[in-house]
Amino acid sequence: MKEDMQIHSSFEHLSTHMQNVENLGDLSSLPDAFDAIRPLGLEDFGAILWAMPDQKFPKLSEALPTMATEDVQNLWTGASGFRLLEQSLSFVRACAASYASAQNRGLAGQKILDFGCGYGRFLRLFSYFSDEVYGVDPWDKSIEQCQAAGFGDRVKLSEAVPEDLPFDGPFEFIFAFSVFTHLSESSTHACLNALRAVAADDALFMLTLRPIEFWDVAMAGHTHLNSDPKKMKQCIKDHRENGFAYYCTDQVTSPNYGDTSISMEWLANNLSGWEVVSVDRSLKDPYQRYVMLRAI
Ligand SMILES: C[S@@+](CC[C@H](N)C(=O)[O-])C[C@H]1O[C@@H](n2cnc3c(N)ncnc32)[C@H](O)[C@@H]1O
Repeated sequence: MKEDMQIHSSFEHLSTHMQNVENLGDLSSLPDAFDAIRPLGLEDFGAILWAMPDQKFPKLSEALPTMATEDVQNLWTGASGFRLLEQSLSFVRACAASYASAQNRGLAGQKILDFGCGYGRFLRLFSYFSDEVYGVDPWDKSIEQCQAAGFGDRVKLSEAVPEDLPFDGPFEFIFAFSVFTHLSESSTHACLNALRAVAADDALFMLTLRPIEFWDVAMAGHTHLNSDPKKMKQCIKDHRENGFAYYCTDQVTSPNYGDTSISMEWLANNLSGWEVVSVDRSLKDPYQRYVMLRAI
């Protein structure tokens, strides 16, 4: 376990609770295990999951999903450990607050879909609210990671340009973190439509978009992209003129997955069956703009 996570789990209220669960808890299923740590509150719930497995707590470690390795966290999501947990929790809290204010009820017990679930960092955190959290992703390695961690048939493989999705729904809440920040225009349309088909009427959908400033940061060499000024300037132009900029370094093997910025105007003009409810952002992860949509 990384040192920052160890410091976090060394709090007495955490270790005492976890020890009580070890001694008394019935952890025969994943929902039982989640239920055993929910009383600690969202952020400690996340801290425990980030630190799994922990040899001090063998029953919990057996029952709860194993966290992705530090390498996978860094490579797939650009950060790891405590910093990643803080960034991720900002999104979860924003979703919970916007959902409650727009729907006059909380996320508790709702049927939730993580669209583009990757290795499942948000499958873990949204399990604080509900046992009905499902994930899809078109990359087989994502599904392998989630299933190896213990999410079983809660996760399924989808298509990059989907006509439909492998779960029927209806979902009350859908989220897609750092997914529409990567899709081609045709994949973006297909995904928005496929998601509408599995959303309950009046459901909410939180997605993240990159602002135009992403290309300046990329040009300065601060992202995973090769800082080719000509291409980055073209993306800025595309974003200004069309509201949609897409840069794909591998047109041959993954033509629908690159880097994307989308303006709010483009989104509003291209939605069908969705309307924009609100926007938000966390300064802990400033190049992900949160946009909440409602199924209409
Ligand atoms: C940057 S990762 C983010 C993963 C996860 N949402 C997170 O924040 O930890 C982008 C994910 O989107 C997935 N993805 C790519 N194309 C997609 C599509 N058309 N539909 C859904 N997911 C897609 C990728 O396979 C990858 O797992």
